[in-house]
Amino acid sequence: MAIHIHSKREVEKMWASGRLAGQVLEFIEPHVKPGVTTDELDRRCHDFIIEHGAIPAPLNYKGFPRSICTSINEVVCHGIPGDRTLKDGDIINIDITTILDGHHGDTSEMFVVGETTDKARKLIDVTRRSMWLGIKEVAAGKRIGDIGAAIATFARGEHGYGVVEAFCGHGIGRVFHTAPQISHVGRRGTGMRMKAGMTFTIEPMINEGTHECHVLDDGWTAVTRDGGLSAQTEHTLLVTDHGYEVLTMRDNAFSL
Ligand code: MF3
Ligand code: CO
Ligand code: CO
Repeated sequence: MAIHIHSKREVEKMWASGRLAGQVLEFIEPHVKPGVTTDELDRRCHDFIIEHGAIPAPLNYKGFPRSICTSINEVVCHGIPGDRTLKDGDIINIDITTILDGHHGDTSEMFVVGETTDKARKLIDVTRRSMWLGIKEVAAGKRIGDIGAAIATFARGEHGYGVVEAFCGHGIGRVFHTAPQISHVGRRGTGMRMKAGMTFTIEPMINEGTHECHVLDDGWTAVTRDGGLSAQTEHTLLVTDHGYEVLTMRDNAFSL
């Protein structure tokens, strides 16, 4: 499948949508507190996105019923906001995808509710670092497999965590999910060569225990098979001749 190479004009639109998606994460952070429901987080993000002239991509996407994904503790990804109340010690991924002027920006971050355990904080830290080690592999001429190799070598090799294989990063642009698939357990020197103008996400899901997941009866919520904690962070990237641009970057976000 041919991978779209974004023109300068299209890249501008990807920047605008990516920047807005990052702003949603900044906006929602102070609301992630004990006692709040994930439906309230969803409503606030939904309204913010609409007020900024964009559309929340998840809403009605393949039947998804909300505007953001909220994945708590053992939830790996695609958690559906609802009446569940956040409690002290929970860890939550909030995943935002905006469509602005026809273009998608996709980014997610981990938040700690109140105070949590050292092991949960470490899992989050390793997840963020692994995503960035993957990002640093991005450059025209390098191979897609180099990204997942860097992620898995660190998260699994150095830390013994499970790296989820059932869900991948993805090409993104006018379409939410398209080729190429970005495995987070790729092998170095394998896969397609990256070209300047490609845009895709890197979004490793890192589990305390087994990498295996299953999807609940709601058809969306993916959880760890062993009930252990899972963490994820995500950015949308542009491949450039010299490396990459992080289209969803925001002030004060973690980076390596
Ligand atoms: N934002 C998710 C991703 O990173 C996809 C969510 S699809 C939904 O690819 F339907 F669950 F919202
Ligand atoms: Co994504
Ligand atoms: Co996402």
